Amino acid sequence: MSTPSDSQRMEKIVSLCKRRGFIFQSSEIYGGLNGCWDYGPLGVELKRNLKNYWWRVMVHEREDVVGMDGSILMNRAVWKASGHEDTFSDPMVDCRSCKARLRADQLVDKKGVKQCPNCGGKDLTEPRAFNLMFKTYVGATEDESSITYLRPETAQAIFLQFKNILEVSRKKLPFGIAQIGKAFRNEINPRNFTFRSREFEQMELEYFCRAEEGMKWLDYWLEERLKFYENVGIPRAKLHARKVPDEECAFYSKGTYDIEYDFPFGRQELEGVAYRTDYDLSQHQKASGKSLEYFDEETKQKFIPHVVEPSAGVDRTVLALICEAYAEDEAPDEKGKMETRTVLRFHPRMAPIKCAVFPLLKNKEQLVAKAKEIVDLLRPHMNVFYDESGAIGRRYRRQDEIGTPFGVTIDFETLGEKDRQLQDTVTLRDRDSMKQERVKILDLMQLLSQRIA
Ligand code: GLY
Repeated sequence: MSTPSDSQRMEKIVSLCKRRGFIFQSSEIYGGLNGCWDYGPLGVELKRNLKNYWWRVMVHEREDVVGMDGSILMNRAVWKASGHEDTFSDPMVDCRSCKARLRADQLVDKKGVKQCPNCGGKDLTEPRAFNLMFKTYVGATEDESSITYLRPETAQAIFLQFKNILEVSRKKLPFGIAQIGKAFRNEINPRNFTFRSREFEQMELEYFCRAEEGMKWLDYWLEERLKFYENVGIPRAKLHARKVPDEECAFYSKGTYDIEYDFPFGRQELEGVAYRTDYDLSQHQKASGKSLEYFDEETKQKFIPHVVEPSAGVDRTVLALICEAYAEDEAPDEKGKMETRTVLRFHPRMAPIKCAVFPLLKNKEQLVAKAKEIVDLLRPHMNVFYDESGAIGRRYRRQDEIGTPFGVTIDFETLGEKDRQLQDTVTLRDRDSMKQERVKILDLMQLLSQRIA
């Protein structure tokens, strides 16, 4: 249960996201569309940094993983074979008093009696299965033969291309195929800001292996994924690897872990790491009549590989990064009086803007010219922001609030007016400690790159 301070914290985070351009409601001017969100100029940078880092560690830095980018619409037969058409559903209940449609697991239990969480009503229908896939029609005819679905997971495209990718990449087991892309689920109750959305992005790896090594790779990927979250700034103490009880696992899974994070609204899943056995490839082989077997050149055996799947939610992780980064502390204002400072303490690797560049005064041509030179120097290597308006303290605060880890200020010492020794040096301010160091412009690029990498 959230404490009041947790819900206040969440309100402040949602308000900051809108005010500074991280996340907006989709279709806002028309009243929005429940469960859909748009990322603004800063949100899109944060999201890209996360996806790029995932791609870097999961694909580029590994010999045993290649990538793909599949289509969102696929043949309906895919969803019949995968089991989604028959079983990808949540149990839904209607409240006859206030007409709310509810997920059965979100009902309130008061002394063994189920109640509507909205109105407290007890007149509820029996649960019935509500399929979460968005149905659509392909082509000009809207009938049974043209039905398909927006994909509810990116994973299936990987299974369908397994054989093609095996051939072109000439990989041997164990190896993986990674994909980042949109997925869609018609959630009964989207909630908790972007956490449970109807349109969202996934970062999924299907790691194919021999049956006898499945459990080993499950443990390996759980550990790798926990390290990933630490490397983007989420401390281990706030992460929890929950072994999903057998009765909650998909029937074909031989083991699943949920990686959970302590959000202000409670402990919730960021990623599932599931050992899916050979279920998916076997289903598609059976339904399509095409072989999806692997041929082992050494043993001359043919078999369907097993698969371990780390499946992460992009939007959930972006929200976790923002929640983890959000802090309030104290900093002196222009007159030295302490005031509350809002700061996003993003890991520099994730921060939307890496470095802000400030001429001390905007009406001194030489300071402005030098600051613009520094912007040109840094811009090919990182996302930088130039700001000349307002008092320098205010400019720092604006960057603190959006999580910019470094600020470079060009002052009269940079011009060599006070001390020739300090010519072509700038101050480099650290967002978290607010300490400043004097750095040569020549060293700036290397120093920043090391701290951001
Ligand atoms: N592919 C697993 C999931 O979408 O949750």
